[in-house]
Amino acid sequence: MKHTIKILVLIILTSACRQIHSDSKIPFTEGREIVTKNGMVVSAHPEASRAGISVLQKGGNAVDAAVAVQLALAVCYPEAGNIGGGGFMVLRQSDGTKRVLDFREKAPIAAKRDMYLDGDGNIAGKLSTDTHLASGVPGTVDGMVRIHSLYGSLDFRDVIQPAINLAEKGFPLPEDQAASLNRNRENFTGRNRILPAFVKDSLWKGGDVLRQPDLAKTMKRIRKHGRKGFYSGLTAQLIVNEMKRGNGIISEKDLENYSSVFREPLQTDYRNYSLSTVPPPSGGGIILTQLLGMVESSPVGEWGFHSAKAVHLVVEAEKRAFADRSGYSGDPDFVSVPVKELTDRKYLRLRMNDFDEKRATPSSAVFGGDPLADENEQTTHYSVADRYGNAVAATTTLNNTFGSSIVVEGAGFILNNEMDDFSVKPGEPNMYGLTGGDANAIEPGKRMLSSMTPVIVEKEGKLFLVAGSPGGATIPTTVFQVIINVVDYRMKISEAVDAGRFHHQWLPDQISIEANSIDSLTLMELKNMGHEIRTRSSIGSVNAIQILPDGRMASASDKRGFNTACGY
Ligand code: GLY
Repeated sequence: MKHTIKILVLIILTSACRQIHSDSKIPFTEGREIVTKNGMVVSAHPEASRAGISVLQKGGNAVDAAVAVQLALAVCYPEAGNIGGGGFMVLRQSDGTKRVLDFREKAPIAAKRDMYLDGDGNIAGKLSTDTHLASGVPGTVDGMVRIHSLYGSLDFRDVIQPAINLAEKGFPLPEDQAASLNRNRENFTGRNRILPAFVKDSLWKGGDVLRQPDLAKTMKRIRKHGRKGFYSGLTAQLIVNEMKRGNGIISEKDLENYSSVFREPLQTDYRNYSLSTVPPPSGGGIILTQLLGMVESSPVGEWGFHSAKAVHLVVEAEKRAFADRSGYSGDPDFVSVPVKELTDRKYLRLRMNDFDEKRATPSSAVFGGDPLADENEQTTHYSVADRYGNAVAATTTLNNTFGSSIVVEGAGFILNNEMDDFSVKPGEPNMYGLTGGDANAIEPGKRMLSSMTPVIVEKEGKLFLVAGSPGGATIPTTVFQVIINVVDYRMKISEAVDAGRFHHQWLPDQISIEANSIDSLTLMELKNMGHEIRTRSSIGSVNAIQILPDGRMASASDKRGFNTACGY
């Protein structure tokens, strides 16, 4: 009997956490929840995490590994990984310096404020999501080349090679991913002249090998020419040809002109922790900062995890933060976003003046403050930490799952449909139900407002947490809940990430709750306070790393998805 139990324990341990030999023959550990000493990569796909760890084991640093993961995700996780999209990266160097890289897409030069409206001023069909007009100018390749040239230590060829291998040799599809490709089959077949690699004669099954020869060729051009391998030459020509085929507007000049940009990190303190996250054109960092500021004066930890009192406070803070997002946030290169004022502690205290601890404030009574906006929300986050103390939190997206589903003919990559993140019609909700204002109206060359919220947290000056999530509007509220789960509810990182989540975004005036995440008594209390409650599918999918007091790294790859950690 004892023997049988021992064998069972061994089987469970080895299936949750496998020792694997990489190309470099140094063993690494793979699983959802692992603890290692020398380096960790957590991403949405096992192949991408393996790409990252192989680069770390070759002697690369966190930036080398992050770039390898981003490029590998473009091959093995076409749902959101990309070279046809964009994102945000927070980098913490071993000396504590923080940098934010904005490689968000931009509106093409020919974009117009009313380009998705009909003659009557109404939104015309699905132009901003399902067509060639839906794509912003991609930022990923410029961003990766830039960050690598400044902070990488390996040759770029070594960093891109795992992605090329994955595209050329193919990789076996996890079952969930085979199903996800099958669900999108109609979009791929309907929106492309030539069937892309993502469609085959019959439906995909788990274990089938996905090969992407055109994408491998594109990646090789990037390996040889760097950013020019994407923004000029053959790849640029293929993008422009694709645009012409579908009445899109991205031109050679748009591609030539695209540039990623470093921005000042948005920094805030919460209890004994210091956070660095992203400023506009993502609204996510502001929301996270506002939520922490509005909640800090309350002992939510003492009130208890998912107590009605704590959920009520957080939801009321979320309403106010999202009302502000709608009013003020946009691309800071085009509009002045009062970041300092919106995140000012005094302002945040004032913002909660009308908070009633017994009653829900209807969203109709919550307006943007005066410091002087479900299911197709695919984005992906990866976290990397190396043994030198460098860390990267990066969130990247095509917007919708598989973006626009339009694959650049001959180049093999999917184009984003990020233009829908603009206020397509100011005042009307976008695909996430987010309502935007003039600050986020379409202008040529402008970046659309995002919700991405990669974050790096320090405790007493030392690296403590690297985290982020996909989930559209739910990104900042997801990241916020993971942080308070660790800080206030004293959960270990894997518990904090797997715990049930809820979300409110001002409009619609309802709390979205993951099924079975909050007990029925608490739900009743919340309803009695005046909250409307909707149960929904999962919220977010966090990939995080926590540095333990002894310096080891603990991973949390969210149970929601096929997220995987690799460490050594
Ligand atoms: N496309 C989702 C976001 O940027 O928030």
